[in-house]
Amino acid sequence: MAFTPSSRDSRNLPGSGVRPGSGSLQSRSSAAPGTGIHAAVTEFMKAGIAASAPGREFEFTDADFERIRGLLHKNAGIVLSPSKQDMVYSRLARRLRTCGDPTFAQYLRRLEQDRGEWEIFINSLTTNLTSFFRESHHFEILTNQLRQVKEKRTIKIWCCASSTGEEPYSLAITACDAFSSMTPPVEIVASDIDTDVLAQAEKGIYRRDRLDRMGSKHLSQYFIPAPGGDGSCSVRTELRRLISFRRINLLSPAWPVQGPFDAIFCRNVMIYFDRPTQYGILKRFVPLLRKDGQLYAGHSESFMHAADLLRSIGRTVYVRLDSPLR
Ligand SMILES: C[S@@+](CC[C@H](N)C(=O)[O-])C[C@H]1O[C@@H](n2cnc3c(N)ncnc32)[C@H](O)[C@@H]1O
Repeated sequence: MAFTPSSRDSRNLPGSGVRPGSGSLQSRSSAAPGTGIHAAVTEFMKAGIAASAPGREFEFTDADFERIRGLLHKNAGIVLSPSKQDMVYSRLARRLRTCGDPTFAQYLRRLEQDRGEWEIFINSLTTNLTSFFRESHHFEILTNQLRQVKEKRTIKIWCCASSTGEEPYSLAITACDAFSSMTPPVEIVASDIDTDVLAQAEKGIYRRDRLDRMGSKHLSQYFIPAPGGDGSCSVRTELRRLISFRRINLLSPAWPVQGPFDAIFCRNVMIYFDRPTQYGILKRFVPLLRKDGQLYAGHSESFMHAADLLRSIGRTVYVRLDSPLR
């Protein structure tokens, strides 16, 4: 798995041990040009290391942020915009507290050595927003797709950024509805890079407010009250049986899945990747899709830049170029 920081990424950054905004630095700023202290300040500025925001519990320099951005991009494909510095601070500060690291530089050194921490680092920085039947038109399109399968065979679906499970369970409910059966001929692989959300997905227990958009018919048919009496609901075992959960990093050179798939749901994850990364993933999807298979993308994701690989059939659904579908 591509989860080892490279030596380039794990280098010690110059000046990372200096606490910006400290008394010594303030006195440096009034030093005469050309003096030793002035030269040190100039060097510090050149290294691009800005002061941590005042009042922060942990020192977090621009260089630390850049390093985190680089690690996340290289290992998960995620591009963090420069405006996400505060978000990164707040998400990782908790880890620094737990690990007892006084600075981000020290935490980053820990990360170089501790594979377990590496997983927590990635989990902390993913964005997992999702909901049941999000972008509901896709589930109508999928229903038609499933009903058009005339042969007796297993229909395969890959949900490749499944987050906390709402999406794959929505797929499973759609399959049960389409076949009017709790045991439809459908297999769903649900994967994500984030092991925390996968664990939640596998549990399949949701607070009542997460189920608000679920019609009462679906709720009573596919969920049961969860133990605890707080109104949470648990998905029925029959739904869970249709899904196998596994950790897959879309950036990994090998994906432990076996196609061909009738449908790949890859929604609201490509937005975090740059175009070359998206293109590389789409290129690997094509041979995993059946000739008449469909790739479902998120509402703000356009794959027009991969027109040599996939053709749009509207409503952010794509097919292979050799697909018979229009
Ligand atoms: C915003 S959620 C989208 C969830 C769901 N697909 C939806 O549309 O509601 C994005 C998910 O992509 C996952 N993700 C981010 N980078 C990934 C990668 N390199 N490989 C696999 N999953 C990734 C995140 O962990 C997160 O759960």
